[in-house]
Amino acid sequence: MASKHAIGLDIGTSSIKLAHLKETSKGLQLLAFDTVMLPPDTIKDGVILNAPVLVQRLTELIAANKVRERKVAVALSGHSVIIKKIALPEMTRSELDDQIQWEAEQYIPFDIKDVNVDYQVVNEHAGQGQMDVLLVAAKKAVITELLEVVRAAKLDPCVVDVDCFALYNAFETNFTVPQHDTIALVNVGASTININVVSGGNTSFTRDITIGGNLLTDEIAKQFAVPWEEAEHMKTTSETTLSMSGVLREVQRISQRVSEVLINEIQRSLDFFAATAMHAEISAIYLCGGAALQVGLIEGIERRLGTTVRALNPFNNIVVDPKKFDAQLLQRMAPTAAVAMGLAMRRPGDR
Ligand SMILES: Nc1ncnc2c1ncn2[C@@H]1O[C@H](COP(=O)(O)OP(=O)(O)OP(=O)(O)O)[C@@H](O)[C@H]1O
Ligand SMILES: [Mg+2]
Repeated sequence: MASKHAIGLDIGTSSIKLAHLKETSKGLQLLAFDTVMLPPDTIKDGVILNAPVLVQRLTELIAANKVRERKVAVALSGHSVIIKKIALPEMTRSELDDQIQWEAEQYIPFDIKDVNVDYQVVNEHAGQGQMDVLLVAAKKAVITELLEVVRAAKLDPCVVDVDCFALYNAFETNFTVPQHDTIALVNVGASTININVVSGGNTSFTRDITIGGNLLTDEIAKQFAVPWEEAEHMKTTSETTLSMSGVLREVQRISQRVSEVLINEIQRSLDFFAATAMHAEISAIYLCGGAALQVGLIEGIERRLGTTVRALNPFNNIVVDPKKFDAQLLQRMAPTAAVAMGLAMRRPGDR
């Protein structure tokens, strides 16, 4: 029998998300989903600055949800990970296992001694005796730091994934993967935008851009000369006190401007993809991440890229017991839940 699912733990810059699933005859069922906010500067630019606070919040989150499972799946993103699609002559898994380290040395701009190398075969027969392989290299020091935090919270990290692939897993479980079209999965978080372009059912390009919703918080803090936490509150609330004072209108104006900056970066990455790919026409963008809610972002992407934007709702196809979960609350949390849900689909011992 297949083993149970690991707990999906998405340790983001602004909050930790926890998701737990089980297999049932009706499909995947949600056992737990919850989040806990992190104080600013707990994690910055993908680096853990305050491990004790992180451990404490993680411990609280686990305790509050009474999850007994200890095995967790976590993910990395940003500068510490490099994903490259390479073409290799067709070979067996064991040949690939032997060869991948050597291949990685040619493609990875880090010292090979400092990284863990892994791979995923995306197309066994890419034509002309070649296969397409995604080469993944992650800095050992960053993995170690993350694992130390998880273990300090008395959890057993059994899968270390990357945000982009977790995003794909969340998508695949909840939507039909188009076999002929090219689509882009885009997760706009607090400090990172993850992009995964899927062509013919396979990942053909990934990119992590290291900006996100924090840029808007920084701008609001600067313009109104308020502390960061207050700026964060101002951007995520539409309270009448704000709207009456005209502050809301100003916040929205700043938001529009910052959204354009984020869209520029997304467009640059997708243009880069288009310049190098065969099936470059993107038919839809599936968007998620807390900062996707930012004023001006969705309409801006549609207008600028001329592509339909759909919500990558990771609860779309998941069995949810209405007695256990507040459906409205879950829908509100859906934009930030994709990576955690993608991780929660993993099982201990998975590659
Ligand atoms: N209604 C809203 N309007 C604007 N921004 C929002 C809204 N709700 C959430 N956000 C922003 O979304 C971001 C958090 O999203 P998310 O939880 O996806 O990021 P994260 O996973 O913590 O960060 P990262 O993945 O970059 O490390 C924050 O910047 C937050 O301010
Ligand atoms: Mg995130």
